[in-house]
Amino acid sequence: MKTIIEPFRIKSVEPLRLTTEEERKGLLRDAHYNLFGLSSDDVLIDLLTDSGTSAMSAKQWAAIMLGDESYAGSPSFRRFEQAVRHLMPFRHIIPTHQGRAAEAILFHLIGGPGRKIPSNTHFDTTRGNIEATGAEAIDLPAPEGLDPAAPHPFKGNIDLTRLEAFLRENGDAVPCVMITVTNNAGGGQPASLANIREAAELAHRFGKRFIVDGCRFAENAWFIKQREPGQQGRPVVDIVRDMFALADGMTMSAKKDAFANIGGWLALNNDDLAERARTRLIQTEGFPTYGGLAGRDLDAIAQGLVEIVDEDYLAYRARTNAYIGERLATLGVPIVQPTGGHAVFVDARTWLSHIPPLEYPGQALACALYEVGGIRACEIGTVMFGRQPDGSEKPAKMDLVRLAMPRRVYTQSHADYVVETFAEISGVRTSLRGYRIEWEPSALRHFAARYKPL
Ligand code: F0G
Repeated sequence: MKTIIEPFRIKSVEPLRLTTEEERKGLLRDAHYNLFGLSSDDVLIDLLTDSGTSAMSAKQWAAIMLGDESYAGSPSFRRFEQAVRHLMPFRHIIPTHQGRAAEAILFHLIGGPGRKIPSNTHFDTTRGNIEATGAEAIDLPAPEGLDPAAPHPFKGNIDLTRLEAFLRENGDAVPCVMITVTNNAGGGQPASLANIREAAELAHRFGKRFIVDGCRFAENAWFIKQREPGQQGRPVVDIVRDMFALADGMTMSAKKDAFANIGGWLALNNDDLAERARTRLIQTEGFPTYGGLAGRDLDAIAQGLVEIVDEDYLAYRARTNAYIGERLATLGVPIVQPTGGHAVFVDARTWLSHIPPLEYPGQALACALYEVGGIRACEIGTVMFGRQPDGSEKPAKMDLVRLAMPRRVYTQSHADYVVETFAEISGVRTSLRGYRIEWEPSALRHFAARYKPL
């Protein structure tokens, strides 16, 4: 069979509200052209994020009923801990309410003024948590990761040559080396097992901890299985274990590759660091057997971790993005190649080349997607990254629009509809106009900025 079908059937549905283009134009105007300001009832297909938006399985909902809400020593925690350790063989597994809470605890302990933390690319909350301690977050992506059109199989790799030079130069200032799998900010692109291994070896050679931001670990392992020489015949679970056996710790958002609507964890091997992390956890999140979550959430995560490494699911997951990507490419819509694990990234700067970067081509495309098709996507470009610490503004490296796919939520006909919306926009592409920002908050402006169309 050629068609890779959704490997699930639907037991419970959520109705979608159909709106007209006229209605949507009014709703977007009322939201000051900021898609974060829309009510999700008014969105037909919500591709804003794949985080916390997964459809849980019948078994996950059943596990929810088994959740034990005891303050201490809950069996839900033991099930959660076992499920994590089955994939990620760390000594200490510390639950948190989501990924950024794990980051906040880790960097509270190992960050601080003068410290420098390199990664392939830090996600924005990771960077934020590092910088909040006075430390510096440094991105060292492999050069091929910066060319949207280059079809390299592992564009999420860290640049090992620059990492080595960085470690040599900055010696004592570096408390750990990180790698984000997949590299969300760089287009959902995977890092190869060889690259993860060499980065770990380099870190260890310089006496540094190696920490994996594992949010989309299963998608990364799937790409390793598909693309890395020598990995084809191996079960994804074994590849996952190899990825984490190389590390001294990990941060995780269970809102991604654990099919949960909330949750995360910090895992560590070092006993002393783990003890201090648990103390901080008690101060900020909760007791170490629930860490800011309900017992039932821990059970949902435990079951989600069993399901996320199902290879039929992963094949369908990667195929959905590739399918949309191939059809967009046929329409002449430039996208980041190859398509990543959790999203299709459209190169709005190239497609809407008549809109200068400081008039936000990504925002213009995101608004058009909503007006024309009721689709909500996310600008990842000059709005998100353009404001400089000195108050000036400059174009980001790229102006992308991310179509992030919630897990197990939409079907192929939804995917077809997304492509059809692009086809409609294609006809009026050159008439789209840019935006100017009429108000913005002091930081993270993309969440709250108000725009005016030009
Ligand atoms: N690391 C990566 C690579 C992420 O993509 C995210 C979240 C986090 C850490 C933080 O996890 O949200 O549970 O606190 N990314 C979401 C997104 C928000 O839309 O890409 P969190």
